[in-house]
Amino acid sequence: MSLKYAPLFEPYVLNNGVSIKNRFTVAPMTHFASHEDGSISEEERRFLTDRFEGFGLFIAAATLVSAEGKAFVGQPEAIGEKDLPSLSEVARIAKSQGATAILQIHHGGHQSIPSLLNGREMVAPSADEKSGARALSEAEIHGLIAAFARATHLAIQAGFDGVEIHGANNYLIQQFVSAQSNRREDDWGGSMEKRLRFSLAVVDAVNEVKKSYGDDKFIVGYRFSPEEPGEKGLTMQDTFALIDALVQKPLQYLHVSLWDFYKKARRGAETSMARMQLMHERINGKLPLIGVGNLFTADQILEAYLTGWAEFIALGKTVMMNPDLIRLISSGQEARIVTAVDPAKEDRYRIPDNLWRQNMQRLSYLPPVKDDDSWQSPDI
Ligand SMILES: Cc1cc2nc3c(=O)[nH]c(=O)nc-3n(C[C@H](O)[C@H](O)[C@H](O)COP(=O)(O)O)c2cc1C
Repeated sequence: MSLKYAPLFEPYVLNNGVSIKNRFTVAPMTHFASHEDGSISEEERRFLTDRFEGFGLFIAAATLVSAEGKAFVGQPEAIGEKDLPSLSEVARIAKSQGATAILQIHHGGHQSIPSLLNGREMVAPSADEKSGARALSEAEIHGLIAAFARATHLAIQAGFDGVEIHGANNYLIQQFVSAQSNRREDDWGGSMEKRLRFSLAVVDAVNEVKKSYGDDKFIVGYRFSPEEPGEKGLTMQDTFALIDALVQKPLQYLHVSLWDFYKKARRGAETSMARMQLMHERINGKLPLIGVGNLFTADQILEAYLTGWAEFIALGKTVMMNPDLIRLISSGQEARIVTAVDPAKEDRYRIPDNLWRQNMQRLSYLPPVKDDDSWQSPDI
């Protein structure tokens, strides 16, 4: 291995004493491959097996906590006992590759897909005209907090090392934080403090479950998106308020969702500065931050890490394209890292059919396709 990459291979000790063996993180990636009932499929196994060798942290795909929040075809579930065998298998597959395994827990809110809800009504903090979601009642809000807690029970029983609360990408939890989607006039909306109430209640409920098992080593992380477009969308100021609240909670890490590690702030902070730097400064060492976004080659990963803006680097698309990414870096073969998918090499990537089809349709959130210069990452 080239010695210059050594900093990426240094361990990091979380505030609960758990040591993560290096700074490489598998970004959570929805694979659209679970069976209709959320159970693991053969395609999913093929995607997950023999892909994460060498990674410190593995964060599993967004996993559904309550049936009316289903936002993807083939989404895995952590709703009830029936999900334990599949969850256990995913944890086992990740841990057998040497990674610390985290389950991302998720509810789609108004981004759920009506045809996947089996007649259930779509729900969100406030009624949403575009999707047809209706506003949650107070009792339902408590029910959803309990659903995140139940998913945490299941994650612990399945052998995961931790959970990540999916508060990003405009799904339910973010919908509560944003004034654009949360127009409630009760205690769950209005001021920033009230808009944060749901997120913080989920964090507390998850930690209560952790406490009930007396397992201090269980990891709890929180993922968020820093900004939204739209007049009332989230700004860096909102995100600073969220960060200030989260660093006071018994969490082990924060994880930002970005499509470009170097993306500058849009508003609510110095717009000549990168969001990553602004967030890292705001966190001010109280928790480690996982950074992400269009880092493909070993040098791009290293350069991002050496900015000092993130303690861990998460990688999505490059992991889809390179099932042996860390081995390539650690054995001095980083020049062989692939940065665009070759349509002729479908077998090599072992990407589930649905995801592969999306990739061949050039969906912008997926890897560039070889010899196609039109690729552009989402700009959010
Ligand atoms: C196929 C695919 C599925 C994704 N699914 C999730 C998900 O389940 N949860 C999540 O928080 N982010 C998800 N993301 C976003 C990634 O975690 C990551 O933030 C994004 O891909 C940018 O990183 P990259 O440039 O290294 O791919 C997904 C991205 C891709 C490409």
